Amino acid sequence: MQTVTDAAALRAAIRAWRSQGQAVGFVPTMGNLHDGHYSLLRIARSRAERVVASVFVNPTQFGPNEDYARYPRTLAQDQAGLAAHGCDLLFAPDVATIYPSGPERTVTVHVPGVTAVLEGAHRPGHFDGVATVVTKLLNLVQPDVAVFGQKDWQQLLVVKALVRDLALPVQIVPGPTMREPDGLAMSSRNQYLGAEERARAPAIHATLAWMRAALRAGHPREVVEAAALKRLEHAGFTPDYAVIRRAEDLAEPAAGESAGLIALIAARLGATRLIDNLPFDGL
Ligand code: PAF
Repeated sequence: MQTVTDAAALRAAIRAWRSQGQAVGFVPTMGNLHDGHYSLLRIARSRAERVVASVFVNPTQFGPNEDYARYPRTLAQDQAGLAAHGCDLLFAPDVATIYPSGPERTVTVHVPGVTAVLEGAHRPGHFDGVATVVTKLLNLVQPDVAVFGQKDWQQLLVVKALVRDLALPVQIVPGPTMREPDGLAMSSRNQYLGAEERARAPAIHATLAWMRAALRAGHPREVVEAAALKRLEHAGFTPDYAVIRRAEDLAEPAAGESAGLIALIAARLGATRLIDNLPFDGL
């Protein structure tokens, strides 16, 4: 596996593959890779002859009080993992390569609508940072397919919207959430958890499953959401939200609406903020 850090080397490698008629799959990441990322790589591999991954901790998607500085940077380990999982090319740019005018002065991509709620409401500016860097990475790599994890469900909707509205010639493919045996969704942020917090963390997935069961049992959505917040607090979390929404646009479902729903939770455990979701698949 080759590692490149600048746009010219990236484009030269991809041009060579394209001249041989090979399709390119892309998995953008912020590094500190785990089996969740490698499952996305396998999906890309199954759809394209060549696979590119990026590792870039994107400053513009972190708020001023968030974990940009301490976000784990493990490039050597990531390179070894990507090579072992069939990645052909790693793009690992620095901040100046992605933001030549500086992160504060960059052209910004803003996706309206779906970014106004949930993560967008709790992390102002976060999705502008995500949409901007994803647009830039897609323009640099110009893949045929790009794979995004469903664990960041709202991010997936944001990426689909920008690809549609800006007519980017790429197919966005969702990757199912990978979980630890106790149900905790795999995430680079899990390593921030102390032993006691790690033992409590699966309560998020358990609460999502409970929300689905409670709605299926006929309890009103608002009652289920309020009870889910209580369950999380009881388990030691400080929840930001625990809601049931339409999966396709995160709008509030009408009373009695049961198809195409999803439960989403964001909650803090000590200093660590975790998110997870559970699509109901038609209820
Ligand atoms: O999901 C992530 O790791 C990041 O938000 C992404 C898509 C790589 C953009 O920085």
